[in-house]
Formats: sequence, C-alpha cells, structure tokens
Amino acid sequence: MATGKSKQTQTQQTAVDTAYLNTDSGPALPPASDATQPALKKARAVGDLVASQSHNVNKPAEYGISSARPPTGNTAAPRDKSATASTLSEKNTSAKTGAKATSGVNAAGGELPRVRADSGGQAMTTNQGVPVADNQSSLKAGLRGPALLKDFILREKITHFDHERIPERIVHARGSAAHGYFECYDAQTDLTCASLFAKAGKKTPVFVRFSTVAGERGSKDTARDVRGFAVKFYTDQGNWDLVGNNIPVFFIQDAMKFPDLVHAVKPEPHNGMPQAASAHDTFWDFISLMPESIHTVMWAMSDRGIPRSLRMMQGFGVHTFRFVNAQGNAKLVKFHWDPKFGTHSHVWEEAVKISGADPDYHRRDLWEAIEAGEYPEWELGVQIFDEAQADAFSFDVLDATKLIPEELVPVTPIGRMVLNRNPDNFFAETEQVAFCTAHVVPGIDFTNDPLLAGRIHSYVDTQLSRLGGPNFHEIPINAPLAPIHNNQRDGMHRQAIHHGRVAYEPNSLAGGCPFQSGSAGFIPFPEPVSDVELRGKPEKFAEHYNQASLFYESQAEHEQRHIADAFSFELSKVTVPGIRRRMVAMLRNVSDNLAKTVAKNLGMPDLPDALPKANARKVKPELTQSKFLSLLARPGEVGIRTRKIAVLVADGVSAKTVDQVANALIAKGAVVRLVGQHIGLLRTDAKTPLDADASSQNSPSALFDAVVIPDGDECVSALCSDGLALEYVRDQFRHGKALLAIGTGVRVLERAGVPTNPADKGLIVVKTVEKKGIATFIKAVEQHRHPERETKPPVV
Ligand code: HEM
Repeated sequence: MATGKSKQTQTQQTAVDTAYLNTDSGPALPPASDATQPALKKARAVGDLVASQSHNVNKPAEYGISSARPPTGNTAAPRDKSATASTLSEKNTSAKTGAKATSGVNAAGGELPRVRADSGGQAMTTNQGVPVADNQSSLKAGLRGPALLKDFILREKITHFDHERIPERIVHARGSAAHGYFECYDAQTDLTCASLFAKAGKKTPVFVRFSTVAGERGSKDTARDVRGFAVKFYTDQGNWDLVGNNIPVFFIQDAMKFPDLVHAVKPEPHNGMPQAASAHDTFWDFISLMPESIHTVMWAMSDRGIPRSLRMMQGFGVHTFRFVNAQGNAKLVKFHWDPKFGTHSHVWEEAVKISGADPDYHRRDLWEAIEAGEYPEWELGVQIFDEAQADAFSFDVLDATKLIPEELVPVTPIGRMVLNRNPDNFFAETEQVAFCTAHVVPGIDFTNDPLLAGRIHSYVDTQLSRLGGPNFHEIPINAPLAPIHNNQRDGMHRQAIHHGRVAYEPNSLAGGCPFQSGSAGFIPFPEPVSDVELRGKPEKFAEHYNQASLFYESQAEHEQRHIADAFSFELSKVTVPGIRRRMVAMLRNVSDNLAKTVAKNLGMPDLPDALPKANARKVKPELTQSKFLSLLARPGEVGIRTRKIAVLVADGVSAKTVDQVANALIAKGAVVRLVGQHIGLLRTDAKTPLDADASSQNSPSALFDAVVIPDGDECVSALCSDGLALEYVRDQFRHGKALLAIGTGVRVLERAGVPTNPADKGLIVVKTVEKKGIATFIKAVEQHRHPERETKPPVV
C-alpha cells in the first residue's frame, strides 16, 4: 500500500475557504491544516489521498509474460471518510436514508433475510405504502356509474398484475428448486484452491434447480426428456454454478448446433405441437442427420429419460473442466452427483399416466420430501485425470458426446450435498435464479470444449432479456454471499446505491478502491494456444457409435427392451417414413438387434442398410461393457424411505390389517396413503372408522410405488365390483410394482386378472399380516421394479 504525505498538505492555503466548496474548479493549495469546516477537511483528505499515488506503480506489470501473475492493486486509506463519500450532506439522516454507507459493504449482495417479506398482522397498502381502505370495489361516479381514471389504487393493482410474468427460459423452462448445503469430505488443496474444497467438513450453501429441457413452464414433469441439474454454490470466493444434466453426455459437439437442436425438439413452429415431447417429425429429422447425437439419444430413450424422482437421479457436469491448485498446477476433471436415494425410473406407460394424474409429480415429490425432513442427498464425485491420459483415450475429452467410462477413470467422492429447505417463493427464487457456466471461482476452470465455449456466452446473454437488464446479479437469489465490489454502474433496476464519485480504476480519489486482487483473484489456467483460425472439429470427434453401443450393451435385458420400446414409440409418432428409416439405419451402427426390433415394431417392410459413418476408420474402444451404466448398479441406500404406498380401502375393511401393515411400512419411512372409493370416513370391521386421505379418482395407481389390498370380506367385495380398483391393481402389476394382498384381498387380484404367480417376487399374497410377509413386501418395494413380469403385449 503506497502512502506518504504530499508537501502541499503542509502548506498554508491562500484561497478563501468558500473556494473549497466549488464543484467546478478549485484552488491550487489545500486548505489550512487546522481547518475544521467539513468541506475543508474533506478537501485536505482528498488531496492527501490523491497525493499518495504519485503515479500508477502497477502499470509496468501489465506487460510481458509476468503480467499473467498480476499484482494486487495499489490502495491507500483516506485520512477522513468524507474523502470518498458522495456528499457532505450524508450526515443529515432521516428514517429513509438511514446512516451513511458502511465502508466496504455492498448491501445489494448477500443473505436473503434482508429482503424477506411477511405481512403477518399488517394492514394492506399500495406499493407506495398508502393504506388501502377498500380492496373490493373500484372508484366510480355513483354506484352504477362509470369507473374513474383517477382511481390510482385500482390502476396500480391492475398495472402490476398486467406485468407479473417474465419470459420463460428458452430451454429448461419447467423447473423445481431447493436450498441446501454442500459439505466437503476432505481438504482437496492438492487438486484445487477452490475455497469450498479447502477443509474437511466445510459447508457451503447451495441452491439447486432441476428441470426438463423441452417443455414450456407449465408442462408436465414426467415427459421423456433430459433433466437439468443446476447447482449454485455460494462460496466465500463467489458463486460457482455447476450447470449440469442427469445424463453425462450431450446431443451435440459444438455450440453452433444448439439453436438447431432446440428448434428441432421444441413444439413445431407451424402448429405449436407437441408439448414437452421429442416424439415428432422435426426432432427425429434432425437427429437422424446428426449421428453424433446418438449416444445421448440412447440415454434419453433409456429409463434415464423418465426418472422416478428428482431426488433419484444422477447429475453430471458433462464437460471436462479443470481443477487448478494454488501452485497453478491443473488436472482435468469430470463432475458426478450420485443420489443417496438411488437412481430410479418410471416405466413409460406410468409416466404417461402420471402426466395426466399429476403434472406436478416431481415438483410435489421434492417439496413433500423436504417438508417431511427426508432431505434429498447426493455425493459429489470427480474423475480426475491428466492430459496424457486424455490423449491416450480413443475418444476426445473435449467432445461432450462422450463420457469417460468409470473403469478407465474411477469416480472419487469428495463431498455431499443435502437439500434441506424449500424456497419461500417460487417466482422470487426458482424462477428468477440465473445459473451460468461462466460462473467459476479460483481453482475451477474451463477446457476448450467447443460446446462449453458457447454456453459461457449464452446464459448471461439470455438472462439479460429474461430478467430485464444487466443487474440481475442483484436479485437476492442470485447475489453471492461473497462481497461484490466493482465499478460496474447503473442499468435497469439497479439496487445498490454506490457511495462516492469514483466508478473507474485506476483511481486515486477513492484510494485505489476497489483494487484488483492479484494472485488472490481468479487467474485463468495458462493453456498454450497456438494454431490457425478455422471452423472444424478434431478427427476423434468423428467416431459416433462406440459409446452408444457401450451404453446399450451395458444395460440389463429389460433396460434394453425399454430402449427398443422408446425408439419404437417415438418413431411411430413420426409421420414421414423416410425419417423413420434413416433412424433405424443409424441404429444399425449401434446394435443390429436394437435396429431389428425397432424396425419390426414399426412394421417396416425391410431393414435399411446401416448409415454410412463419418469416420471410415474403425476406432477400437477401450471396453464394450461398463457395469456402472445400468440402473441396477445404483439401488441407493435408503430402503423404502419416502416410497409412496397406497392401501386400498372400502367400507368393511379389516381395521387391524390396515393398522398393522401401515405401521410397519411407516416405521421403515414409507409414505402410506389410505386410498378409498371416496375420501373421508369409511366403516371398518371394528368400532372406529378409517379416514381415507385419497381416493382412486384423485390419486390413481401410477402415483404410487406399491399397493396393499387389505383383508375384509365386505371391503374386498366392494373393490371387486369397482372398475377403478381393478384398474388400480392392473396398473401396479403392469408397471412392475410391488403388490401385497392380505387374506381375502387376493380376490381383487384374481378379479382383475392379475396372475398370482409364486415366482413373481413383487407380488406377495399372505393369509394374515405377519412379519415375514411384510418383510418380503418391503424387500419387493426396495427392489423398485419387477421387470421380469413384463410381457409384450401385457397380460393385463
Ligand atoms: C451450446 C450449448 C448450450 C447452450 C447455448 C445452452 C443455453 C441455455 C440457455 C439459454 C438456458 C436458459 C438459461 C436461463 O434463461 O436462465 C439454459 C438452461 C440450462 N442449460 Fe443449457 N445450453 C447448452 C447446453 C447445455 C448442456 C450441455 C447442459 C448440461 C450439461 C445444459 C444445462 C442447462 C441447464 C441445467 C439449464 C437450466 C438452468 C436453470 O435451472 O435455470 N445446457 N441453457
């Protein structure tokens, strides 16, 4: 820090004191050193501050190779705070102005409580704080007369209402979010200087938004789609956004193609259909001409495209990033989120039925779990490797359509994330949150992935219009906990009231503040760049099929069946046969079996030739199967916690059976609902009635992970003659879910035509409620699905 007193400050003034109050020009000499008048004190302090920098001493450091290690900015503290204030009149405070600015504080950043609003116990006001006497009627000339323009209360209310909406996100419009924290397992200082990984047990607040990609804001949650998995870490060195997906690869290799991809998958522009679905001509037309997309398409057509819950999905950073340590040494890194609740999926028909029964299924599931204290949790793992390893792979780590099999580079867990708080307000938090791949912190850096490069530009750009100007970083949910100080000023909706007159650097009038951090700041990894300018892709990017085959061959038999079914369904929705043929021709390069099954399901007269490959040279993959890619490898560790189980009840149900089974399931953390023919009170075989909290109309079968049919002759007879109840158990059976029939309950299964095959591990029939039967049922629910039961066509 450069200090030092100028000679001038020792010199007596010759000008009249009032000259130091001028805002246009001033005297040559400073005021007298014994002057006490505030303006004179300020003038002396400003003079001292300016004099403390004889010149810009850091200027030479801006040149040459050493400029890559910038020095800390040159600063000096004013001898009197008034030197850097906007106005001498700041001493005149009011209830509105409050005290003067606190040195070093920008109140537009930081914690959320400063903006929380709660009207408990308060009277209604206008936005100007004027008490509203009557919130029922507009101002009129007479009871039946015309409304008056001067009714500022009505006009304010309506005007505000008229502007309540903002544009939805161009992609990922439909989302749900929660607050929580990230906890570092062990210090990772060897790998990265990112402060959130600095110490074992260190906790960093996070806000996480999950989303679908293609659907509009009000679309269904259970569409077949990639899911967004965006995490904002409020670290003490600024915000880091890990804006990932639930699928580790992406459709395209270069940002240039992103608008094309999105235009192809969104509702077709002429008729606005279909909503939140890839099953239409333009998507498959595009994909069938873009072989690099097939690996991601395989994932999207697999069970991964229809997750059971946002809490039960993996997350991936997708691109290769860099970890950089304090010495400037870097490693390449891929990020993985692994859910404690396991990675689980719906089956397609179930997802379709849920879309109608509860379009908010995932949003509700996340909300309810957090309200119940069943906090969703993920482990953060990293694949760490170096450039030499990367060079040796048969694929390019800058190609976002490729993953690194865990057999080649294992995933090392480095922390966990817990989501333990729902937002207060959907719009203010979930809707206004702005994630951005450009938000990195010291210790985390980009690579030259050409898709990532486009993303670094895209997010802020779109948010400028979505959130109405350049100051959306001040929207409370986006504001970092780390302090914000820079010379960016003004713009729409600016919240911070910047103190002083300096908004540039270098400066001497504000003592050089805010000053650059030098080596304590973000320093980009010095990756050498020396090549010709061109548009194009590396040759390794041209191999499109090896990993699509790897994914397919790593799936269990039923998972492969689901992939074939998904392609068959999606392509059956294509109206142009030529597009279907091109897709099947592409699938031949992934798996001939898959291509043949899909062709058969589509009733194709013949199997088209395989598509020509972009890369004629055969590239030998490192492996053809990876055990980590099947969902069977990821059951989770929570048993049946939070699983939703329906107990079908009707008048005359055996109260004891319901009680015993419900208590046993609740004890294991399941969410049990009594589903009646109507909601409310039902007679039982005992004195006390049951209170059904759901009905077969308002909560159909698809919403549950398992179903119990309790004992009770009268109840069972009622269910046997109720088409909805029969449909209930048929759906459970068809969707591969666990069923438990107790005593006479088995009649409902028989009546529904559900085969009670003792080899079916998911269908348990017991005479009475006993421990063993319940334990078997719990195991069956834990298994999530019983796909061995699947037949084509379904038997019921
Ligand atoms: C060049 C390729 C890409 C471009 C240009 C792009 C662009 C965008 C844009 C404009 C948004 C809306 C942001 C907003 O309005 O706040 C968005 C959202 C999102 N993108 Fe991308 N994206 C690309 C690729 C990807 C990839 C590869 C991933 C996953 C690794 C991804 C994950 C997400 C997520 C999770 C969101 C939602 C963020 C939220 O919840 O607010 N995007 N993307």
